[in-house]
Amino acid sequence: MAVSMKGKSLKTLIEWSREEIQQVLDTAIQLKMKQKIGEPHPLLVGKSLAMIFQKPSLRTRVSFEVGISQLGGKALYLAPSDIKLGERETTEDIAIVISRYVDGIMARVFGHDIIEDLAKYATVPVINGLSDYAHPCQILGDFLTILEKRGSLCGQKIAYIGDGNNVANSLIFGSAQFGLEIAIASPRGFEPKKDVLKRVAPFFKKNGGKVTVTNNPKEAVKKANVIYTDVWASMGQEAEKDKRLGLFKGFQVNHKLVAGLTDDFIFMHCLPAHYGEEVSYELAKDERSVIYDQAENRLHAQKAVMALLMM
Ligand code: CP
Ligand code: NVA
Repeated sequence: MAVSMKGKSLKTLIEWSREEIQQVLDTAIQLKMKQKIGEPHPLLVGKSLAMIFQKPSLRTRVSFEVGISQLGGKALYLAPSDIKLGERETTEDIAIVISRYVDGIMARVFGHDIIEDLAKYATVPVINGLSDYAHPCQILGDFLTILEKRGSLCGQKIAYIGDGNNVANSLIFGSAQFGLEIAIASPRGFEPKKDVLKRVAPFFKKNGGKVTVTNNPKEAVKKANVIYTDVWASMGQEAEKDKRLGLFKGFQVNHKLVAGLTDDFIFMHCLPAHYGEEVSYELAKDERSVIYDQAENRLHAQKAVMALLMM
């Protein structure tokens, strides 16, 4: 039975139900098929999406903009210098005013409190296009990719090697919803925050699966079906890059790390990648790598999100 998601915001995956996430994945599969066979699917004719960016983007910007145009609607790109979020006027006023013009807001921000404020004051759905805390749209595309490549989400073990950042948090949130096993290997001091682990504990208890945290990448990748990594210095952490390069040494995903693994796995990365840092170029281009399918699936998953929330 379909659940109505009309008017909802997407701040993090942990605030949605498993049924809602499943509905996005099911809708994404249908929309992807329609797009591939050239069947029109004008679900958002006359609708507009404001896209607010405090940070750069390739995938998020292009996939949302192309996605809404494939649905018959329009996107409006607001660069960091356009509205000067947090500087020119309150987030409250921005949310209220933009809601008078458009049917949905997608925002890529630094502090997650901005997503919270936008969602609190906007009268249209707010979609988190990445905050320092979470990147839910990424994980929706990733889960679609895991479904396609592994046949099912159930029973998969994810190993995430690297920084306990927004992408790691969202992978943990998604895993908690579907009862998956996820092992995180981060250098000491860069593990996912305690409040994230506390937040997901009741979900794992209810749905099965578990999250484990280690400082040993070899330990994390044992029996993994999905091996995932992300940059060591995220957007906004550029000043820490050199320090992090040293501290993350030994956490590169490469052929040496996966040598001897007996279970089949796919390699995933949200991109952009810094080859030679968190992943070797060779492994990223290996036949087990699905990084470009992941990037494509952002389009299909986000079309489903927009259609379900904004129709
Ligand atoms: N993965 C991702 O969000 O890519 P962009 O930063 O290019 O949008
Ligand atoms: N953790 C990265 C993800 C980029 C898509 C960042 O926040 O920069």
